[in-house]
Order: sequence, then C-alpha cells, then structure tokens
Amino acid sequence: MSHSNKKATLTTHYDDMESTVDLPVLFPTLGRPVVDVRSLTKQTGLFTYDPGFTATASCESKITFIDGNKGQLLYRGYPIEQLAEKSNFLDVAYLLLFGELPNDEERVSYRNEMADYTLMHTGTKRLFEGFHYDAHPMAMTAGLVGALAAYYPDALDIKNAQERYKTALRLVAKMPVIAAMAYKHSIGEPFVYPNMHLGYTENLLNMMFSRPRQEYDIDPLAAKVLDVLFILHADHEQNASTSTVRLAGSTGTNPFAAIASGVASLWGPAHGGANEAVLKMLDEIGDVSNVNKFIAKAKDKNDAFRLMGFGHRVYRNFDPRATLIRKLCHQVLDKYGNDPRLELAIKLEEIALKDDYFVERKLYPNVDFYSGIIYSALNIPVNMWSSKATLYGPPTKRFIIKTVEHNAEGFCAGNRYR
Ligand code: ACO
Repeated sequence: MSHSNKKATLTTHYDDMESTVDLPVLFPTLGRPVVDVRSLTKQTGLFTYDPGFTATASCESKITFIDGNKGQLLYRGYPIEQLAEKSNFLDVAYLLLFGELPNDEERVSYRNEMADYTLMHTGTKRLFEGFHYDAHPMAMTAGLVGALAAYYPDALDIKNAQERYKTALRLVAKMPVIAAMAYKHSIGEPFVYPNMHLGYTENLLNMMFSRPRQEYDIDPLAAKVLDVLFILHADHEQNASTSTVRLAGSTGTNPFAAIASGVASLWGPAHGGANEAVLKMLDEIGDVSNVNKFIAKAKDKNDAFRLMGFGHRVYRNFDPRATLIRKLCHQVLDKYGNDPRLELAIKLEEIALKDDYFVERKLYPNVDFYSGIIYSALNIPVNMWSSKATLYGPPTKRFIIKTVEHNAEGFCAGNRYR
C-alpha cells in the first residue's frame, strides 16, 4: 500500500457538533483507494461500525486480490483459472507463502523439506484414542492442530522467519494426515502412514481409503480434482477463518494455536456448511419439473427459503471458482456415473440466471453450488466437507474401495461404522 499526500475530507454532524477531518488516503497495488480512519475517533469522538468488514480492510496484504464486480480472484497476481489449470496445490502453497511460484530447484528442496514434516509424532495417536468414534472431524482437527504446539515446540516464535517457515511447512504437510487419521478413527480402521512416493492429494486418498490386506488404486482423476479444489480454497482474503487466525495471531500466540482457532471458525455452518445445504436443497427439489416451484419460493419474501449456493457478499457478477468447479463436476460424473443432482443443479442455474429477480440482484452460483456433488462422488464423507453434518454419510464403493468380502483379522470388514 503506498502512502500519498492525498486526503479524504469528511464532515460529520453529531449532537449539534460539526467536525471536518482530513483523513489520509492510501493506494493499494490493485483495487480502490483506502481511507485510513485510525485518527477518526480522536478527531471527531466517533467510532466506525462495520461488523462484516464490508468496507474495512483489517490489514495490509499482498497475497490475494478479489474484484467482486469483475469476478476476479488473483493469488499473488496470478488468476485463479490459470493456477487451477496449470499448477498444483503444493506449488500454489509455495506461491502464497513466498510470493512467486517455485523454480525446479526450489520445488525439489521445498518438497523434500515438507516430506520430512509429514509424519505425525506417534504420541498423537493416543490423542485420537481419547475421542469417541463419532466425534466430528472438525472437533478432532481443532484439538489436534492446537496440540501440535506441544509436540513441536521448536518453532513457535512467530517473530522468527525461519521458525515461521518451518511451522508453515509442518502445517501444510500434516493437515491431510490429521484429516485422514480423524476419518480412520471414526470408522475404526488402522491409521495409514503417509507414503513418501505419493503426491499430496494421492497421499490423502491413500491414507483415507487404503486398508490392510486390500488392493487400492488411487484414481488420478480423483487426485487431480481434489488438488484443484484445494487450490480454489487455498486463500480468500479476509474470510472468516483467515480473519480469526490473524486476530488470534495478533496476540503473539503460537501459530498452531492461531490455526486451531481458524479451524474452529471454519466449523461454523455459515462458513463451511453451504455445500451440504445445496445437496439437501437438490434432494428436496427432487425432480427437474419442480425447479420453477422452488425458484418462486426463493423469490417469495414471505418464504424463508433461499437458493443455497447462490449469492455472495463479495462476488457480484460471478464467482470464478464456481465456474471451475462446475467443469470439474462434469469431469467427475462423466467418469463415475451420473448423479441426478447435477442435472437438477444445471437446470436450476439456467433458470435462475434468466430470471429478473436473480439478475437484478446479481445472484450467481457461488463456490459451494457444485462442490458437494463432487465430494459426494469422490466418496468423501459429508461431515469432512460440511460443518453442519454430524454423522458420516453411508459408504459407497463406486471406485475408492475394491470390494472385499471379509477380512481375515476380523476387523473393519467392509463396514465403516465400526
Ligand atoms: N436466494 C434468494 N434470494 C437471495 C439469495 C438467495 N440465495 N441471496 C440473496 N438474495 C436476495 C436477498 O433476499 C436480497 O433481496 P432484497 O434486496 O429484495 O432484500 C438480495 O438478494 C440481496 O441479498 P443480501 O442478503 O443482501 O445478500 P448478501 O450479500 O448480504 O448475502 C449470502 C450473501 C449470505 C451469501 C446470500 O446470498 C445467501 O444467503 N446465499 C445462500 C447461502 C449460501 O450459498 N452461502 C454460501 C456463500 S459462499 C461462502 O460462504 C464460501
């Protein structure tokens, strides 16, 4: 953000008092000029009120830029579409951390370093044992991430760049391991260790779905689609969980504690639950012939029903992630068999986008509109991607698991509810 001599003059009338103040105007690299209101209270006695950060930047950041009117999302200047098509999650994580994509040499050394951090301290297995089998994965994740500070106290100083780097790598490396452990714990299967020969998302699939004495093929499309979904969710400016991490971090707490608070924030249904609401809505609609009826309900101000997965506080044209996810959804369902909910979703989108109500209010599908259908097709249990759900969805065996009739050891024999 560059400083300038420019000022914004603001006149306030309050309690028969009039004040005129000159507030500094700052210029970001991209986007609108910003009025620095920090001296407002001192000069006028007034505070500002903006609970949703609608007009407020809480910090200066060079990481992500969003232009909601243009439907533009940039990570470090790169359009999200380009990264989704040409890059991969680990390179994007590097980009977000360092400001530029890695060259070949940097990529090798960063990945080697990260591989070292992938394994979990064996003591963390005992933490999982303390959770009941039906504990929500976000409860386990928030607990485990916070607990990492106790296992890895060697790099907790957020003022030290080397330590910050180490902890950032640890977190990126261990998140899929924690997620897979939470899943395996809930279904009573043994934990699967990370395999250093597999890529990031391949490893996640392998840790979640491979089982003892059973052949498991990682589907390259499933791995690719998950990788793109991770890219699309890697950062989104001042969203609720990032803002939570920043607020906790501003106290000087350790990074694991700050990230655990971010996980807790993501757990809220307003943040991580809309994709499940979309699936529920599509199930409720049930058939293409009912779409018009539900569109009318969404427009009726006396009806609380809203089109789930439609509308966004920031994107007022289209959400570029939704366009990419719709494409992925087609690829996934072309391969694994159709899900009638996709046809319904397409019809709903088609009708809504021609309807004056949605057009005038600039309501378009958001990132959550198609993603639930994909996670469902990939056999990822609903409460691992939606904070609303409390129970794991029923297992399907579409492609993840090669069927096994029974297991000689007598444990986990094809039943995930054990
Ligand atoms: N269906 C029907 N009408 C809608 C919808 C919708 N999904 N979204 C907004 N509207 C209407 C509002 O009723 C309002 O109408 P009015 O001007 O006649 O009063 C107008 O559009 C503007 O709506 P706001 O509520 O002001 O929109 P806002 O930007 O505050 O809300 C929000 C955005 C919360 C995302 C909203 O669009 C919504 O509830 N969408 C459905 C839930 C959803 O998909 N959430 C996930 C968002 S993405 C994410 O969090 C990762």
